[in-house]
Amino acid sequence: MWETVWGQAPSLEQTKLAMEHTLFRVSVFDGDKIIAMARMLGDMGLDYYIKDVVVRPEYQGRGIGRMLINELLSFVDSNGISGTGIFVELCAEPDKIPFYEKFGFDFNEEQRLKMMYRVR
Ligand SMILES: CC(C)(COP(=O)(O)OP(=O)(O)OC[C@H]1O[C@@H](n2cnc3c(N)ncnc32)[C@H](O)[C@@H]1OP(=O)(O)O)[C@@H](O)C(=O)NCCC(=O)NCCS
Repeated sequence: MWETVWGQAPSLEQTKLAMEHTLFRVSVFDGDKIIAMARMLGDMGLDYYIKDVVVRPEYQGRGIGRMLINELLSFVDSNGISGTGIFVELCAEPDKIPFYEKFGFDFNEEQRLKMMYRVR
């Protein structure tokens, strides 16, 4: 899935570790072929972080991305304390920002800090 949109994928070892520690994952299949995925990290009380939202190029523009984000937000609704506020964050390429704005995400450049940390 990664390689259909972003080029070379991380190693299988890294991916397996990441998947095992992911809080919630959504996958969409067309028959036995995976066509979309998204995952979410988080603590369920205060913060969530959305990662790796991917729809295979040939399936884009059909409402599948919307379905993925709605599923992730449903998980927040089902598991958070009703009536409280929870941060849901993500990083997006500039051309994907309008997609996320449709769900209520608000772009804020000042809060975007990120690095590729080299594990010792
Ligand atoms: C971004 C992505 C997940 C969107 O998935 P999708 O299935 O094509 O999106 P949908 O068809 O569900 O679109 C939902 C709505 O967002 C809009 N939309 C989708 N991509 C958009 C974009 N790049 N800019 C503006 N609007 C966009 C659609 O027009 C649609 O609007 P509507 O409901 O008002 O008609 C998909 O393009 C993708 O996988 N891209 C490559 C990977 C990537 O960059 N992922 C995001 C990581 S930050």
